[in-house]
Amino acid sequence: MFELKDKYAIITGASGGIGAATAFAFAREGAGGIIIADIDRKRAEGAAGVITGETGVRCEFVETNIGNSEDIKKLFKKSLDYFGRLDILVNCAGICNTFQVEEIDEKQWDRLMSINLKGTYLCCREAYEIMKKQGSGKIVNISSVSGRVGGFATGIDYATSKGAIITMTMSFAKVAGPFGINVNAVAPGFIDTEMTKAFTYFNPETIPLRRAGKPEDVADVITFLASDKSRYITGVTLDVNGGQYMG
Ligand SMILES: NC(=O)c1ccc[n+]([C@@H]2O[C@H](COP(=O)([O-])OP(=O)(O)OC[C@H]3O[C@@H](n4cnc5c(N)ncnc54)[C@H](O)[C@@H]3O)[C@@H](O)[C@H]2O)c1
Repeated sequence: MFELKDKYAIITGASGGIGAATAFAFAREGAGGIIIADIDRKRAEGAAGVITGETGVRCEFVETNIGNSEDIKKLFKKSLDYFGRLDILVNCAGICNTFQVEEIDEKQWDRLMSINLKGTYLCCREAYEIMKKQGSGKIVNISSVSGRVGGFATGIDYATSKGAIITMTMSFAKVAGPFGINVNAVAPGFIDTEMTKAFTYFNPETIPLRRAGKPEDVADVITFLASDKSRYITGVTLDVNGGQYMG
C-alpha cells in the first residue's frame, strides 16, 4: 500500500482498459494526482469521476489526441499547471487493427504510427525534459506480445509499432538513466478489453495459465515499474501474457 504516495502521473489512453485499471491502481497506491489524457472525452471523464469518487485522489481529464504534437505539448504544460511536477508517465494510448497487408496503405501506416509510435516518443520526450530537471521520474511504455513475435491477427503496422516501442524504451533508458529516470515497458498478451472485442477467434485455453488477461493483471506490473520497488530496473520490457510467449 501507498507505493506511490504523493506521486503525480500522466496516463495516456486511460479512458478504459489497461490505462483506466492503471489509474485506479495508482490512486489506490496513494498517488497525489493523476491526469488521464485521452481522445474519448465521455469515457475518460467517466473514468476520472469514478476514480476520484471511489478513492478521493484528484484525477483530471485532459482531452488529447496523441497523434497530434500540439495536443501533446499542451498536455504536459497543463499537467504542470495542475500539479507542479511529474513523477510518472504511462504511455497507454494506442490503436489496433486486424487488417491484411493489402489494406495497410501509406495513409493507414502513417495514422497508426503517428499515434502508437510517434505519440509515445513525443510524450517520452516531454516527460524527459521535466523529469531531467527534477532528477527523477518513471516512464512506462506499452508494447505487446506482437512486438516480440510479430502479429498473430493484428496488422503488420500494429506489430511493428509495438516492436519499435521495445527498442525506443531501451534507447530512452540509456539517455535518461543518468538523470535518475527509469524507462521500462510492458508487453501484454491477450487482455480482455475494448480493443480485443473483435478477436472472437481467440481461445484462452491455448494460454499456459488458461485464461485471457485482465486489465488489472497489467496494471499491477505497471504500478511496480512506476514505484520505487523497481528502482534498479531500466530499459526492460516485462511480458505480461500468462505464458503466451516466453522470451
Ligand atoms: N488488450 C490487449 O490485448 C493488448 C495487448 C497488448 C498491448 N495492448 C496495448 O495496451 C494499450 C491499451 O489498450 P487496451 O487494451 O486497454 O484498449 P482500449 O481500447 O481500452 O485502450 C486504448 C485507449 O487509447 C485511447 N486512444 C486511442 N486513440 C487515441 C489517440 N489518438 N489519442 C489519445 N488516446 C487515444 C482510447 O480512447 C482508449 O482509452 C494499447 O497501447 C494497446 O496497444 C493491449
